[in-house]
Amino acid sequence: MTEQTPVTETTAKAVPVLPDAQTVTSVKHYTDRLFAFRVSRPASLRFRSGEFVMIGLMGDPHPETGKQRPLLRAYSIASPSWDDELEFYSIKVPDGPLTSKLQHIKVGDQIILKPKPVGTLVHDALLPGTRLYLFSTGTGFAPFASLLREPETYENFDEIVMTHTCRDVDELTYGRELIENLKSDEMMIELLGEENLAKIRYYPTTTREQSPKMGRITTLIENGELFADLGVPALDPAVDRAMVCGSLAFNLDIKALMEKAGLNEGANSEPGEFVIEKAFVG
Ligand code: A2P
Repeated sequence: MTEQTPVTETTAKAVPVLPDAQTVTSVKHYTDRLFAFRVSRPASLRFRSGEFVMIGLMGDPHPETGKQRPLLRAYSIASPSWDDELEFYSIKVPDGPLTSKLQHIKVGDQIILKPKPVGTLVHDALLPGTRLYLFSTGTGFAPFASLLREPETYENFDEIVMTHTCRDVDELTYGRELIENLKSDEMMIELLGEENLAKIRYYPTTTREQSPKMGRITTLIENGELFADLGVPALDPAVDRAMVCGSLAFNLDIKALMEKAGLNEGANSEPGEFVIEKAFVG
């Protein structure tokens, strides 16, 4: 097309361009319920590790009008703020409007990404402390995959307790591999520091398949097993901080336990002793 060629309505419509399109650079399936993928990062996107964005695909054409609307959901960015690409960790819901389609994406495909990051699982929303608990279930591990790769996490705390509870052992793989990689990858060791990486205490548990540690983390907090296993005192609002990400029911149960221990919920506008965000569910 030359500069003189007028752009008519027809020309514009003939080449459908996905709004806010980003290109898929890798996809890894972990189980028939879980997968992770990476996409290109918009040059202008700035975000704080732990935040989420809206991502999605074009929906099916409307049966009468043929119009397509974007189908978007909130997804925590699983990659750290310094990464060239963006990573996401997702569940596959067979009849989920978005994930039933998203699970089939391949390298080179495009997804929609609205470059407006928000969220409360950020360092800015926490008061200074000594020990940071990261409590997650299922895909709620995603924002912590970002924060564990963020140098600030280690500057702010002496100890980082990363708990991840899933139904089965296989569902722990994404988190376990990420932590193993942090401790073995030369680039990550150089960026985060060996002494800092030694601050991580990984505490995986399963609820429906036999594994070395079984039980809901809420139960293990309530009966004191978590603290006994770690060899640390019970939760103390003077030194302990927590970030929580899981299902709505999980978040509510943990919130009650944090409040019972005397921790107050924080927000970007008013930092506190713990912060909560709901994981994307379907
Ligand atoms: P459970 O197997 O006892 O339901 P899901 O895959 O359904 O999102 O669940 C992820 C993990 O979170 C499962 O191990 C599940 O345990 C656990 N879980 C679900 N709800 C709660 C809750 N309210 N409190 C603590 N753990 C929960």
